[in-house]
Amino acid sequence: MKRFLSLLAGLVICASAFSQVPAPVQITPAEGTPNLTKELSRKIGGKAFAKKTAALPAYAWEEAYELTVTPKGYKVLANTEEGYFYALQTLKQMQTCGTVYDYPRFQYRGFMMDVSRHFRDKDFIIKQLEALASVKINQFHMHLTDDAGWRIQIDKYPRLTTHGAWRVGDTWQEWQDGGNKYSYEGAPDASGGYLTKADIREILAAAERLHITVIPEIEMPGHSRETIYAYPEVGCMEGARELCPGKEATFELLEGILEEVIELFPSPYIHVGGDEADKRNWKECPDCQARMKAEGLANVEELQSYLIKRMERFINDHGRQLLGWDEILEGGLSPNATVMSWRGTQGGVEAVSQGHDAVMTPGRYCYLDKVQDAPIYEPEGFGGFLSVDVAHSYDPMEGMPEGAEMHLLGVQGNLWAEKIPTDEHYEYMMYPRIAAIAEVGWSQPDRKDGFRERVTRWNDNLIAAGYHAFDLHKEYGERPAYKNGVKHLALGKPVKYNQLWNRGYPAAREATLTDGICGGWSYGDGRWQGFLTDIDVVIDLESVQPIHYVGGTFLCEPGPGIFLPKSVEVWLSADGENFEQVATIPNEIQEPCQSYVLFGTPVTAEARYVRFVAHPTRGFHFLDEVVVN
Ligand code: ACM
Ligand code: ZN
Repeated sequence: MKRFLSLLAGLVICASAFSQVPAPVQITPAEGTPNLTKELSRKIGGKAFAKKTAALPAYAWEEAYELTVTPKGYKVLANTEEGYFYALQTLKQMQTCGTVYDYPRFQYRGFMMDVSRHFRDKDFIIKQLEALASVKINQFHMHLTDDAGWRIQIDKYPRLTTHGAWRVGDTWQEWQDGGNKYSYEGAPDASGGYLTKADIREILAAAERLHITVIPEIEMPGHSRETIYAYPEVGCMEGARELCPGKEATFELLEGILEEVIELFPSPYIHVGGDEADKRNWKECPDCQARMKAEGLANVEELQSYLIKRMERFINDHGRQLLGWDEILEGGLSPNATVMSWRGTQGGVEAVSQGHDAVMTPGRYCYLDKVQDAPIYEPEGFGGFLSVDVAHSYDPMEGMPEGAEMHLLGVQGNLWAEKIPTDEHYEYMMYPRIAAIAEVGWSQPDRKDGFRERVTRWNDNLIAAGYHAFDLHKEYGERPAYKNGVKHLALGKPVKYNQLWNRGYPAAREATLTDGICGGWSYGDGRWQGFLTDIDVVIDLESVQPIHYVGGTFLCEPGPGIFLPKSVEVWLSADGENFEQVATIPNEIQEPCQSYVLFGTPVTAEARYVRFVAHPTRGFHFLDEVVVN
């Protein structure tokens, strides 16, 4: 009996020893009460460990460590200070004695903070760096500039902060609803702020101590309305949002800014944005047109590419590398650029196929501005649903061509802040999901088991330390119908579309509406079929049958422009030729609504064909199944 008990205790130790986030390569548990405070030895750069790790890629070799914890204290082997630092992060999560041998899967494990849409100060930022380092995130990408506010002191161009950093509207939404008005520092209606160079130096010092590289992003040529407000001469015309690549003044300003940014930040990468530029003004602007003619540029995509290439030369001449969102692929990629793939994974695939480096940050898995739980219980997100488990399920190598590991640097979570006015809310959106991304970046795919239990413990500790993380104990979870599906009379029956779905949202095409598979909390999971037009489908039950009910569930998500239909009609027929309308279901839901609404109706009839029609209100409407009983 005694033996049996101690065997059981051993098993418990095994299970709970494996409680690290991110999961290490190897854990060998041992008996005893761990002493986590006494360092018995520290060997950095020793021959034996160098030999043990010799076959690893250079970055993994540098970050590798071995940590042994005994009742007397702990010992660390590492090749570099970085490896030693990661051993200490693991130590903080140790609950038992044992030996951990570890190194990262990817060299780039990032988080992007948006400080433009709502300003965050240096104390908040440094607090987050501490938590990020604890899960071995090593890249902190700062989205420092955008329409909603310029957030970094630039001495040569003071109006960027005396004017570009101040707007009318405390929240991004208020600013948006008020017509995007700007103000100036000290004005009674001014809302905003910026980081001084002294603030940045404090952030950089903290980051260095935590072995985190801070990557500054200076957005160009889109998302630049605040820049043009401060210096109107760099826009094509007044009120423009895109910088004018036709004017030399634009390059003078950008180079002046980047010179100071490069002087301040030691990061090998300088991020230049490059995303979502609306290039229409460039077609009308005489300076842009003259530039295109002089440079032999065929279209406005090539004009954006001209700007990015010129900035890349400048950045390279200053000994740094250019990083940009995947739009920088359009119109021809600059020679040495690294691509951050956000519009799905295609940009990353393309970049590595062309021999460029890429960082993966596809919206579906890495955009932390989506709600993380049932939308009815959550503060409004920016559109979409991303649970901690879905974020954790991502594999950056999926869909990559052979040899991609040469160029696939890693993964990053992005947290855009349009809908996040407060610091508390920002932390709530960061944690625990960034820990899932950290594990995607650090851990070997076969070591990711038991994440739920491990991350819950890590997250509970974070909450105890004063972070406003989302509480995993209160998670509602996926939409029940998503998990369970639905059974009904029309299951597997053929559907004829009088109007096809929108090309961007086909779901399972003709099978979607009768496959018994239901969508989740948002439109992006490949189970919701999207329409900009009427939905008009006919289901063939393949024999005349008594019918009691017809209904369909629609998504409502105003953020990304998804609305309920104005009304739904149900028509029935025995022969497929002559249809009789048996119900009209009006939309009785007040906007704004989040989540989904069932449009269903009882019917009493015999029929073989069910025609289901939905008229859109505006924007998209999304349907996952037509249930017939
Ligand atoms: C982005 O989300 N516009 C990069
Ligand atoms: Zn122009």
